[in-house]
Amino acid sequence: MEKLYDKLLQGNKDWVAKKLKEEPTFFSDLAKGQRPDVFWIGCSDSRVPANEITNTRSGEVFVHRNIANMVVHTDTNMLSVLDFAVNILEVNHVIVCGHYGCGGIQAAMSKKHYGGVIDNWLRNIKDVYRLHNKELDGIKNSGTRDKRLTELNIIEQVYNLCKTSIIQNAWEKHKRPHVHGWVYDVSNGLINDLNVTVRDNSEMHNIYKLDF
Ligand code: CO
Repeated sequence: MEKLYDKLLQGNKDWVAKKLKEEPTFFSDLAKGQRPDVFWIGCSDSRVPANEITNTRSGEVFVHRNIANMVVHTDTNMLSVLDFAVNILEVNHVIVCGHYGCGGIQAAMSKKHYGGVIDNWLRNIKDVYRLHNKELDGIKNSGTRDKRLTELNIIEQVYNLCKTSIIQNAWEKHKRPHVHGWVYDVSNGLINDLNVTVRDNSEMHNIYKLDF
């Protein structure tokens, strides 16, 4: 354990040295501020680091991560990051990126009881299952079913974003952001665009449309 701990600090020193060698102004440029155009909501899973899998640099992607990339309307942490991204950073794109092999999805599909707060968090995924249970129950292979729930969960989180006053207000006033749903495949490193991008409220269910 001690070894990994030390390795992280040494890794940081090595990284700084490498960056400065490649680009002497790397840190002084970043110190001036950030102007990312993308807000990323991903899973906390250690295998899905946003910058690394999109080959982007520090400063390019504003990131929020939680278990199974959820957008829960009472989560003031997520809402604050969203508010900052949309209204202060003025991003043009919000991406929900989930991933196959997600432990959160697998746990939600089971009746596993962890005995803590996590059970309540996973319940949000069970709600997505219940919303789509007809389609999901028709899939016999459990691996295929988990994959489909992963995709449906991403799509529902895209819609959850669209239901927020933050996104609707930005659409009304600034005609942005576009909200995207992506899925990352841990087994080959590739991201698939689920092609569920939402750009305005025209296709939203009427009950969710706010009057401005
Ligand atoms: Co995950």
